[in-house]
Amino acid sequence: MTVALEQALSLNIPNPSHELVQVVRGSRSGLAINVAIHSTALGPAAGGCRIAHYADPAAAIADALRLAAAMTEKNALAGLEHGGAKAVVALPTAARPAGEERTALLHDLGDAIESLGGRYIAGPDVGSSPVDMSVIGSRTTHVCCRPVEDGGSGDSSLHTARGTLAALGAVADEAFGSPELAGRTFGVIGLGAVGAHVARLLDRAGARLVVTDVKAARRSLAEELGATWVDPDDALTAEVDILVPAALGGLLTAGTVPLLRCAAIAGPANNQLDETATARLLAARGILWAPDVVVSSGGVIHATGVELRQESEERLTERIQGIAATLRQVFHTARTHRTTPAIAARQLAEQRVRHGRSSPTRSAALPLTSRAAGPMESEPPTSHATTKRGC
Ligand SMILES: NC(=O)c1ccc[n+]([C@@H]2O[C@H](COP(=O)([O-])OP(=O)(O)OC[C@H]3O[C@@H](n4cnc5c(N)ncnc54)[C@H](O)[C@@H]3O)[C@@H](O)[C@H]2O)c1
Repeated sequence: MTVALEQALSLNIPNPSHELVQVVRGSRSGLAINVAIHSTALGPAAGGCRIAHYADPAAAIADALRLAAAMTEKNALAGLEHGGAKAVVALPTAARPAGEERTALLHDLGDAIESLGGRYIAGPDVGSSPVDMSVIGSRTTHVCCRPVEDGGSGDSSLHTARGTLAALGAVADEAFGSPELAGRTFGVIGLGAVGAHVARLLDRAGARLVVTDVKAARRSLAEELGATWVDPDDALTAEVDILVPAALGGLLTAGTVPLLRCAAIAGPANNQLDETATARLLAARGILWAPDVVVSSGGVIHATGVELRQESEERLTERIQGIAATLRQVFHTARTHRTTPAIAARQLAEQRVRHGRSSPTRSAALPLTSRAAGPMESEPPTSHATTKRGC
């Protein structure tokens, strides 16, 4: 059964602006596969496949809508000719499908992606991995981030970390008047795939490190780097120059902002603010916040560059370093217009999307007819669900 919801009019979001929302019942798995395409104004929409438990089907669709809009913003700010989309498979329980059950689900996902004819390019997200992308890839070519041995670009975490380092230079410059990282203290929260790379890169740059993870085994990395280990409950309030969230989203709230003891915050964790208004609380405290949609884009820049544009590593490095220039532009706009970096980043993304939509060459290059898409005027996409990996 397929239900195409051309607009999310019945859903509780302000100014619905998505091009397409599709709910497909997987013929093999029986599970509902929700695909939200927010925008193809800049090109085919890229975004991850989330496989997670949701309390009800509407919550899964609402999450797909929010996450797809966030991908439009991230891709536009990364200077990519891609719009934003997301696929969300709502699992009936917290148990993760395995074996044949998982293969059936991934084949259903592949068919749903293929049915969109290239308008949506999928990648990994919470609950899906590069290996899963290979299984999806047996049903569609519109997938990236398969393992290198399967012809994909593989794990994107190192590239996300490289982008984070570039961002940290711009943040240090804005906050302290110098991009130099050596001698500054960074509080890295989460030493997983991206956080561990960030900690190593910071260590190599001569930075001082305060680190944490809920997994005690990660302490060995702290020992290896000579970093100070703090309890996860104390990490957010550690006295550091720059806090680097590299674990869960939603950690910056009206409750936590007053407790912070840092000059700036910039990390790869998605959806750091519980709501956009929290950016104003940070600004009021004089804490510089770098929008995570900009900081975390190294992975998607690298994956799409390798797999869709066949760009050289040299060009990709340039693009990833370009994250610093985008952040400088965002900070400059925020300063000049007396607004927050969150709003400045949103406005820059909207500008790029509007320009893409009005460009005749861009419209001609779209693989499918673009349906009526409103401007990105809706409230900022926030999701309390934590994102993990992202193409
Ligand atoms: N992997 C990528 O390329 C990529 C790209 C864009 C954004 N991101 C975002 O970056 C963040 C990290 O991604 P990842 O791929 O490294 O995930 P990961 O699961 O490999 O690492 C997350 C780490 O955080 C730890 N953690 C969880 N809760 C914690 C807490 N309360 N305090 C301290 N540590 C905690 C986990 O134990 C884990 O080690 C996520 O928010 C993800 O959405 C990742």
